[in-house]
Parts: sequence; C-alpha cells; structure tokens
Amino acid sequence: MTATIIDGKARALRLRETVAAGVAAFVAAHGRAPGLTVVLVGEDPASAVYVRSKGLATAAAGMVSGEHRLPVTTSEAELLALVAALNADATVDGILVQLPLPRHIDTDRVIAAIDPAKDVDGFHPVNAGRLATGLDALVPCTPSGCLMMIEEALGDISGREALVIGRSNIVGKPMAALLTARSATVTLAHSRTRDLAGHVARAEIVVAAVGIPDLVKGAWVRPGACVIDVGMNRVALADGKSKLVGDVEYAAASERAGWITPVPGGVGPMTIACLLANTLKAARMRAA
Ligand code: GUN
Repeated sequence: MTATIIDGKARALRLRETVAAGVAAFVAAHGRAPGLTVVLVGEDPASAVYVRSKGLATAAAGMVSGEHRLPVTTSEAELLALVAALNADATVDGILVQLPLPRHIDTDRVIAAIDPAKDVDGFHPVNAGRLATGLDALVPCTPSGCLMMIEEALGDISGREALVIGRSNIVGKPMAALLTARSATVTLAHSRTRDLAGHVARAEIVVAAVGIPDLVKGAWVRPGACVIDVGMNRVALADGKSKLVGDVEYAAASERAGWITPVPGGVGPMTIACLLANTLKAARMRAA
C-alpha cells in the first residue's frame, strides 16, 4: 500500500479562506476587525520566523495584527505588565506569548496571567481544564489541526485505536483529550513507554509529537493507518546544509500507511490556520 499524502498546506488555505469570510462578517456586524497580538521575548531565530508568519497570516485574514518584540533581558514583571495591558485592551481578542521564554521567566506564571477568554493558544489551565472536562474551550492549535486532518481522512473515529506519542501540554495531552472526546480508544505514549513498536503496530491513528528524528520506524506502522507527524527536527546533511524531518521515518512509513502527513507541509500550516480560527472564535465570544 502507498499512503495518500495529506496536504496540510492546501487544507490550511481552505481553513484560512473560511476564517477570512468569518472575519468579514464580524467586521460588518461589529464595526471592527478581530485583533491578535503576539509577544516575542528574545532573539531565537526559529521563534522569530514563526512570529513573522503569524503576523502575515493574521493580516491576510483581515484581522488586526499586533506584535511586541522585547529584549531577552526583559524581566518577568515587565512581561506580566504587558500581558495585563493586553488583557485590558478591548481591541485585542487574542494574546499569544511565543514559547520558549528565556529561562529567567516562569512560563507557567505568564500563561496563567493571560485572560482565558483571550488565550488563543489554549494553554491557560482554565482552557486545558475545559477541554479535559468536555466543555467548550479555546483548544491548542496544533492538536486542533491534527484532528481536522484525521477526521478528513477517516471520517468518524469512534472506537478507533489511537496512539499519541509525546505528553506535552502543547500537543500530546490536548491531542489525547480531543481524540477521547471523539470516542477513540486512546493510548498516550512517552519517553518511559515500553514496547513503542508494539503500540504503533496496533494503532489505526498515530500522532507523533516528541521531537526525535525518525523515532517511529516505517516497519512498525499498521497497514492502512493514518499517520500524523508533528515533528519539526532540523538535521545536518553531509554537504553542510540542513533539512527538516519529522518524528516518523517518512519513506518507509508511506509504504504501509493509508494516510500520512509530510514534513514540512503537513501539520505546520494547519497550526497557523487554527490560530486564526481561534482568534475569530475569541472575538465572537467576547462580542457576544
Ligand atoms: N512555540 C512553539 N509552538 C508554539 C505555539 O503553538 N504557541 C506558542 N505560544 N509558542 C510556541
């Protein structure tokens, strides 16, 4: 079997068009555009690239894009003061503080300071708790995008065997919660898991989100499975250049899977599209 490649770029474009239409309707109804403000502390090059893409996508959807770039020497108190000002700013519907933060800043404290109604990352404990208990929530963008791609491939996933590899608050745990809410049978694997190969072999849905290049071997994949690769690992090549690879051995997995996401061009574009969708959702909730 050769897998159908899930084109995250194309799917993300469609979602962005839907969001842009929703933004136009919001402007007509409320006389203002939804606003997303991104905060970047420090000079991490990868983070700077993400922040720039988010700003461009926000403006392209017709929303107001705000950006605060703070020096790496910014104190926690200064960052908390900025978050408080953004919480109080009625033109700001979504606040995203880019992670990772410099080590002298307590990430949990900063996330907890964001108004849960403006938490478009879905990282605040209130949103995480609402997701875990089945209440409507702002849901983290990467797992939201993954679920959309899984459901488009498989349709109803009720009762399906799903394996999530990685237990981060950003991807693994919310992914497991979303799949559970759709009545999949969910296994959450992590660095202490024994016999990862055996778990992968049983799974009809695999979401790999650990950040280890080629961790999931193609030969482990259950024939026909839907494989979602969240990994974005930059590896050095012999010629001194580098390339992005996922957590799944792509070529070998493609020979067995039914569906697979490429890296790049799979999950990444969907994450930004879901961020725009969350910002529109936050604006609608706040306007209601
Ligand atoms: N750093 C890497 N991914 C993310 C994300 O989804 N949100 C934020 N805020 N920071 C990140």
